[in-house]
Amino acid sequence: MKKPLIIANWKLNGNQYFVNIFLEKLCYKLKKKKYNISIAPSSIYLNKAIQKTKNSCIKICAQNVDINKFGAFTGDISAEMLKNMGVKYVLIGHSERRIYHKETNKEILKKFEIIKRNNLIPILCIGETLKEKINKKTKDICLNQINLIIKNLGIKAFKNSIIAYEPIWAIGSKIPIKIQEIQKVHNFIRSKIKLYNKKISKNIIIQYGGSVNHKNAKQILKQPDINGILIGNASLNFNNFIKIIKIIYNI
Ligand code: 13P
Repeated sequence: MKKPLIIANWKLNGNQYFVNIFLEKLCYKLKKKKYNISIAPSSIYLNKAIQKTKNSCIKICAQNVDINKFGAFTGDISAEMLKNMGVKYVLIGHSERRIYHKETNKEILKKFEIIKRNNLIPILCIGETLKEKINKKTKDICLNQINLIIKNLGIKAFKNSIIAYEPIWAIGSKIPIKIQEIQKVHNFIRSKIKLYNKKISKNIIIQYGGSVNHKNAKQILKQPDINGILIGNASLNFNNFIKIIKIIYNI
């Protein structure tokens, strides 16, 4: 089995001091280790994070990218810029961007395309709202969100790409997560991909995100269709984050 991919999504948190200290300590703890760990800091600290983690197993993930290659788009960052800097992964379609920045499917599709074209790895975030869950729409929503890519770019676009199932109701939430239910959704996503391409469905990393912490991480990653975790809150506390890594990698 592949090593699980653990990504810390720091969202709009941290400052220069936090990034420096956290990454110094993390690099020290993970010295000579070959784990699959990634940090997604605010874009303003991407370069610093890349420099700090240069000789470690830690890879850097961007939280967003623009749909345009270049031009008069004040404040935006292109996929080429991320690639040149040394970024490996890019999050797209995170519910916080879909909600607060009104990101549309059309934009998400363009981002996916431009990320692939620049040989970066997209992490496509998908998932349903609480209302959709209650109305038993989880599978429909997830299917629509992955079909956006399959129907427009073809199943091959998912080769070397990542899907993150992040139910919106579970993000930063007190609603308890039922791990068996999450596994079922992951299995559903994989089975839909399998209809197009067995190899891609077997190899694709499907991460879970939404209130992951040191208490539930191990159980989540024991599930056969969950290959990684995307952590928000619990990744901001160094001791908690290290606890999660230790539990998963048995150190
Ligand atoms: P929390 O771990 O804070 O629920 O956030 C999950 C998330 O949105 C990761 O992208």
